[in-house]
Amino acid sequence: MKKIITLLLTAIMAVGCGNNAQKGAEPQDKPWQEIKPAEIELNPLQMIDRDWLELSAGKEGNMNLMTISWGSIGELWGKPVFIVYVSTSRYTYQFMEENDYFTVTHFPASMKDKLAYLGRVSGRDEDKVAGAGLTVEFTGLGNPIYAEADLAIECKKIYAKQFDAELLPPEQRDWYERSGTGIHTVYIGEILHVWKK
Ligand SMILES: Cc1cc2nc3c(=O)[nH]c(=O)nc-3n(C[C@H](O)[C@H](O)[C@H](O)COP(=O)(O)O)c2cc1C
Repeated sequence: MKKIITLLLTAIMAVGCGNNAQKGAEPQDKPWQEIKPAEIELNPLQMIDRDWLELSAGKEGNMNLMTISWGSIGELWGKPVFIVYVSTSRYTYQFMEENDYFTVTHFPASMKDKLAYLGRVSGRDEDKVAGAGLTVEFTGLGNPIYAEADLAIECKKIYAKQFDAELLPPEQRDWYERSGTGIHTVYIGEILHVWKK
C-alpha cells in the first residue's frame, strides 16, 4: 500500500513539474533554429514599426543595444539586407561605427515594457542589459543576441552614410533642428544569419 501511495505521489509530482516546466517554457527555453531570410514570417511593418526591435552592436564586454522602430528589410545588390537608421546622438552610434556587424532582435509582446525602457535610457548612463533583465548570448561571429528574443538577424555592414541635411525634406530638417536629435546615419547590413525560436 505504502509503495502504491509513493508511486502515486511520484506520478502526481511528475505531472505537476511537467506543467510548471511548460508554463516556464518562454522562448528563452527553446533552442534557436536557423532559417533563411525569406522564411521570416513576420510582416515587416508589424515587426519593425509596431512590435519594435533591439539593435545591438559590439562584442562581449563592450557592446550596446537600443530600441528601434525605423528600419527596412529587403534586397540590394543581390543580397538580403536589413537597413537601420541611427542618430549620432545615440550611444549605440559609436558601436555601429566601430563594428563591422550588427544584430536586430525581435521579442515576444510580453516584453514591450523592456523595449520601452531600452529606448528611453542610454547605455552611457546605465547597464541596460541588466536593467532589462536580458541574457546576452554571442553568435559564432561574436555578436550579441538575447535568450529572451524570438527572432535574431545578424548583419554585416556593407554601407553606412549619414543623411545629407541639404537633401532632407524641409519638415524633416526642421524636426532635426527643433529636437536637437543628431541626423541619422543609414546602415545597410547584409543579412548573414536569421535564427528563430
Ligand atoms: C519605440 C522607439 C523606437 C526608436 N527608434 C529609433 C530608431 O529607429 N533610430 C534611433 O536612432 N533611435 C530610435 N529610438 C531612440 C533610442 O532607442 C533611444 O534614444 C535610446 O535611449 C538610445 O540608447 P543608447 O544611448 O544606449 O544608444 C527609438 C526609441 C523608441 C522608444
